[in-house]
Amino acid sequence: MSTPRLARATLVAFDLTGGPTRESMGRMLQVVSDDTTRLMAGEPTLTDTAAYTVDPAIPVVISWGLGHGFLTKLGLAAQAPPGFGPVPLAGDQAFCDGDILLHVESQSALLVSHAVRQITRTMEPFGAVRWTQHGFVDSAPDSLRTGRNLFGQIDGTANPRTPEDFDDQVWMSDGPRWSRGGTQIVVRRIEMNLPTWDSISEAEKEKSIGRRLSDGAPLTGRVESDPMDLDAKDAAGRLMIPLNAHARRATSQGTVQKFLRRPFNYDDVAPGGLSSHGMMFLAYTTNIAERFSPVLARLTAVDALNKWTTPVGSATFVIPPAWPAGSFLAQELIEG
Ligand code: HEM
Repeated sequence: MSTPRLARATLVAFDLTGGPTRESMGRMLQVVSDDTTRLMAGEPTLTDTAAYTVDPAIPVVISWGLGHGFLTKLGLAAQAPPGFGPVPLAGDQAFCDGDILLHVESQSALLVSHAVRQITRTMEPFGAVRWTQHGFVDSAPDSLRTGRNLFGQIDGTANPRTPEDFDDQVWMSDGPRWSRGGTQIVVRRIEMNLPTWDSISEAEKEKSIGRRLSDGAPLTGRVESDPMDLDAKDAAGRLMIPLNAHARRATSQGTVQKFLRRPFNYDDVAPGGLSSHGMMFLAYTTNIAERFSPVLARLTAVDALNKWTTPVGSATFVIPPAWPAGSFLAQELIEG
């Protein structure tokens, strides 16, 4: 997560099948941990069906999340870290929830596909795929510039940057031992209506966020890193960053409501050959209930962007910390 953005990403959510037990989950977590370690080192998995595809010169980053369903199916709900729980969404549930989340990123679409396929084969005896989402980001691995999303906006400016920010906002330091050093992720699939967005003026687009399209600077500032001046008015006495502007509504009230946003874009073929555009909005936080949910509630109530965006999926997971050699993902949870 504090690793650089990689251009291609796939998320796969699995549902556990066949009456999972701690014993069977221990076996599953051991084999997927082994697959993960090998693929991230540029090596094939033990049962790889396309072993020559791997390439140690091209990084593959793989992370895992455990959902509310994983904990409850194993009778481990009391082991959930503070503030962790579902962020429900009404309507179609096709992109909601899941017991386990697999997240693969690479600069190479081939290597993402390969890793997902091999791990999905390993998962077959334990779980069924619930939903999958492929996507991409605007990323140059050696660049520090903030990427753009499908609306053409610079997206990610107000993110944590320093190790201290990450320790405060992202990495859990309290709660059950198995989860300490990990994080909580909220995944929201958000459709973006590009035809209607494309039909409005640049000024209207900028007002809906409160930042300039050209360089991401606040409408009250000069450069991207300038803080927003939420009181500044124009010559006619109107607030320069409108009351319903997304960045104004989203910005932290106090010091707690901060988290890391690392969304990726999707551009899928929909029925009839049309494209379905949107964002897999990924938020990483120490505590969903305290830090993320109040911001989501504010934006759901009032946000100029709501005119062009529709949430169509929602899922949450605990991402345990990296496991040391000789151990496996969430071993302390399973054996604790
Ligand atoms: C398709 C949906 C969305 C789009 C296109 C979008 C776009 C943006 C853009 C362009 C910015 C300003 C630059 C930046 O600081 O990154 C921003 C800021 C922000 N967004 Fe979103 N966003 C979306 C959904 C959400 C959601 C669902 C949340 C949380 C529930 C959220 C939370 C935030 C926060 C916390 C900020 C920083 C505010 C600040 O302190 O300045 N966004 N977003």
